Amino acid sequence: MLEQIKKTLTDFDTEILELNSSDELETIRIKYLGRKGILSQLFDDFRKLTGNDKPIIGKTLNQAKIDITNKFNQVFEKFKSGTKASDFYIDLSLPGRKSLVGSKHIITQTLDEVKNIFKGLGFSIYEGPELESDYNNFEALNFPDDHPARDMQDTFFVSEKFLMRTHTSPVQIRLMKEKKPPLRAIMPGKVYRNEALSAKSYCLFHQVEGLLVDTDVTFAELKGTLVSFAQQLYGKDVKYRFRASFFPFTEPSAEVDIWWEQQGKEGRWLEILGCGMVDPNVLLNVGIDPEKYIGYAFGMGVERMALLKYGIDDIRLLFDNDIRFLKQFISV
Ligand code: PHE
Repeated sequence: MLEQIKKTLTDFDTEILELNSSDELETIRIKYLGRKGILSQLFDDFRKLTGNDKPIIGKTLNQAKIDITNKFNQVFEKFKSGTKASDFYIDLSLPGRKSLVGSKHIITQTLDEVKNIFKGLGFSIYEGPELESDYNNFEALNFPDDHPARDMQDTFFVSEKFLMRTHTSPVQIRLMKEKKPPLRAIMPGKVYRNEALSAKSYCLFHQVEGLLVDTDVTFAELKGTLVSFAQQLYGKDVKYRFRASFFPFTEPSAEVDIWWEQQGKEGRWLEILGCGMVDPNVLLNVGIDPEKYIGYAFGMGVERMALLKYGIDDIRLLFDNDIRFLKQFISV
């Protein structure tokens, strides 16, 4: 019988919350509190009881009647003033709603990781604008006038002399113009390219540039720094290779690949960054004496690193803002 009383209370709560007019209120009153209503029926049943638990049941039943009557009167009063029951009547026995807690996007998480590793290697952080001059983005970096990267296919030009930066390397120019060597900084940020969207490329992505300028700098130091970085990001056993390459602003230049194996797929080499010794022409362009100073630089794509790290196969997923995808990578 106790169960029946409990059910009556919850049924009453549900019904009173859903009602919309005072007519329905009267129907509820008759149903629960009327002479032949549910409560008086329960009292009739109660009188016929003989067991030991009769006092407890009696107490519960009385309390239920008081509760229902009170709630009914409360709702009745409010209805007179035109408010709906659900507007003011809060059922404290309902389970709470889970609140959604935000989390960092995978790109931010990866960026944070990269920044932390380089912080540990003594690099500070420097930032430049996304809207750049053609001079900083290309000319000062030793790109010849007819270099294909200047082509309208690749670069979002804003005017003849300004563009959305196509890489973070122009921040090197800004840093070297603003501060005197020795320099040791990373420069994270967004870059833009006018490319056809596909699983592998997007018109916007993030890079982290690195620059070190000092008196005795060698390629071996550049190599040591990048190997240490790769081992911290991908684990001590990561398999890597330095492959000779070309960039207008570094000489010699190299690209770093890491060996990537995914379960069930054949392993392959994947490029993660470009690097090299700063070309003396670039140092001259910013007023640093190339006879006295040597520099090394590197630049890496953050999306590529995130895709590798989490085994994601389509870069567009990183920009879709689909919560079902993003919540798989919640970091605490
Ligand atoms: N800026 C180059 C790119 O976007 C990467 C790079 C940076 C290479 C610094 C060498 C030195 O591909």
